[in-house]
Amino acid sequence: MSASATMPYFIKPSVNLSAAEKEAAYALAHQQIVATIGDETDETIKMVTINCLLKTHLPYYYWVGFYLNRGDETLTVGPYQGTLGCLYIKFGRGVCGTVALSQVPKIVGDCHALAQGTEHIACDPNSRSEIVLPVMRKDGSLLGVFDVDSSEVASFDGVDLRWLERILTVFSL
Ligand code: SME
Repeated sequence: MSASATMPYFIKPSVNLSAAEKEAAYALAHQQIVATIGDETDETIKMVTINCLLKTHLPYYYWVGFYLNRGDETLTVGPYQGTLGCLYIKFGRGVCGTVALSQVPKIVGDCHALAQGTEHIACDPNSRSEIVLPVMRKDGSLLGVFDVDSSEVASFDGVDLRWLERILTVFSL
C-alpha cells in the first residue's frame, strides 16, 4: 500500500507552538504521564500512555510512536498514533534507522530536503519535520527509537528534545 497525501478524517494538520506554549503543554503532559504510569513496569503500557498524552497536548504531533529493536539490525513498528507507519526500517536507513545506529537524537526541520529512501523514509508525505530519540533501558540496552512527525516544517527544537529526554527516562529508571 502506498502512502496517500490525503489526511484521514481522524487526523488534523499540525499547528506549531511558541516556546512558552510548548513548555506549558509539555509540563502538563509530563505530569499526566508520570501520574498515569505510576509504578507500571510493562513497556507497552508506558509506550501507549506516552503516545496518547503527548498527542493530546501537543497540536503539532501528526504522527507519534515507537520503533522497536528486536536485535536483528532492523526496527519493527511498535505502538503509535497517526497514519499508517512503515513496518520495518533497517538500522542506518532514514532518520529512525540513523538514530538507532548512533543512539544520538536527531531533529529534522524539513524532511522533504533530505534524500528520500536513504536519509528519510516517507511513510506519509504529509510529514514535514520530525524529532527522533533513542530509547534506552536501565541495563543499557536499546529498546528502540521514539519518533514524532509534524505536518508543518520546523516544529521541533531544543524544548522538545529536553522534555522528551526527560519523559523517556520512564524506560530506564
Ligand atoms: N520518519 C521516519 C520514518 C518513520 S515514519 O515517519 C512514521 C524516518 O525517516 O526514519
